[in-house]
Formats: sequence, C-alpha cells, structure tokens
Amino acid sequence: MIPPMTILITAGPTCEAIDPVRFLTNKSSGKMGYAIAKSAADQGHRVILISGPTNLNVPDLVDYIPVESTQEMYDAVEHWIKKADIAIFAAAVADYQPANISEQKIKKDAETITLKLVKTPDILGSAKQKFGYQGVLIGFAAETENLEMNAREKLKRKGCDLIVANDVSRKDIGFNTNQNEILLISADYIERPPKASKQHLSHIILEHAVNLAAPRGMD
Ligand code: CTP
Repeated sequence: MIPPMTILITAGPTCEAIDPVRFLTNKSSGKMGYAIAKSAADQGHRVILISGPTNLNVPDLVDYIPVESTQEMYDAVEHWIKKADIAIFAAAVADYQPANISEQKIKKDAETITLKLVKTPDILGSAKQKFGYQGVLIGFAAETENLEMNAREKLKRKGCDLIVANDVSRKDIGFNTNQNEILLISADYIERPPKASKQHLSHIILEHAVNLAAPRGMD
C-alpha cells in the first residue's frame, strides 16, 4: 500500500498575450499531464494540477489551478510546490513571450511588423535553485532530434531526478494524440516502455515517481 503523497503537476500549453485578442501558444493538448493527474488521484494522492488552457475535463478530486501565461504558471508553482512530495512538469511552456503586450488591438496598418520576444522564466529549472524544493523532481523533454542526449542534458541542467522524453516530430505519438512512446532517464537508469496509451504510461511514470520518493522517507 502506497502512502498518500502530495503531487504537483503542470500541464497543457501556456499562452503569451500579444494584444487583448491575440496570443502565442503551442500544440500541447494537456492529455499526458491530465492522465498523470487522474492516475495519481485514483490512487488516493492529493493532486495539485496547475494547467494552461485545454479542452479536457479536470479529473475528479484534483485541486485545479488554471493559468494562462508562463509567468502565472511560475507564480502558481512557486506558491504550491512547498506542499509537494513529488513535482511533475508535463506542461509545454512557451520559451519566449512578447517583450511588450499592446494595450489595444494591433491595427493592420503596416505591411510588415516585427514582434520582439524575450525569454520566459524556466519554471522547472527554478524548482530546486530558486524555490528551494527538495522533493522528487520530474521533467519532460519534448525533442525533435537527439532524444537521449538532449534529455540527459536537461536532467542535469534542470536538477531533475527523472526526465520523461518523447519525440514530438512523430505524428503517431506526443502532441494531441492519445498514444505516446517515452524514454525514462535518470542518473542511474534508462527505460523504454513500449508505445502505449497516455493513461497507461501515466501509471508507469507515477510508479517511478513514487519509487524515487520512497527512499526519502515517504514510505
Ligand atoms: N519548462 C518549464 N519552464 C519553461 C520551459 C520548460 O518549466 N520556461 C519545463 C517543461 O515543463 C518540461 C521541461 O522544462 O518539463 C523541458 O521543456 P522543453 O520545452 O523540452 O525544454 P526547454 O527547457 O524549453 O529547452 P529547449 O526548448 O531548448 O529544448
């Protein structure tokens, strides 16, 4: 019997406003993060789901914190992560945001316009270094090339215990599909579960998370 833990999950895309009616976002459906949230809640864990906009139903018994921008997700994670034993960052966070948000709808006057973008804060990379989080930290790596090498680099750079990597260039898995094929990479091991539904893979990811938490006095 696994003792109930508090699990923070980020999911979905983030949206960066350009003006009152336009924004930059990405193709994330949120399905992987929501599947993990559902599995964790079904197992009796307390789940804090911090999510960008999606079309999905929020799983039962989940504490749901809706956000839009990366900064909002950053602030929510900074606030809630203190309570977590495990943090799983499945969100597809925008890497850049407009340098300025126009207060009025931008008019179609000019033939070309240039949008200046600045980097968003790295939420996962801030968990240990800035928020002082000491629980189990799990990140995702969405790659279109050199999957294993890039995932290992993210594992180190972001101070994660585990990286869940997937190849987002493949049409049959990843963004907006129900199936996924993942690579699980920690400092000590690498595992390649067969291609499966996101709900099935969510159980595997959760099992790894709980096993990583156990030696830290959660058992
Ligand atoms: N992530 C985050 N905050 C950001 C960017 C990414 O928390 N500003 C998290 C994602 O939720 C994911 C992990 O970092 O768990 C890796 O995201 P990914 O987009 O693959 O990597 P990036 O850090 O954006 O690096 P790059 O785009 O150069 O691959």
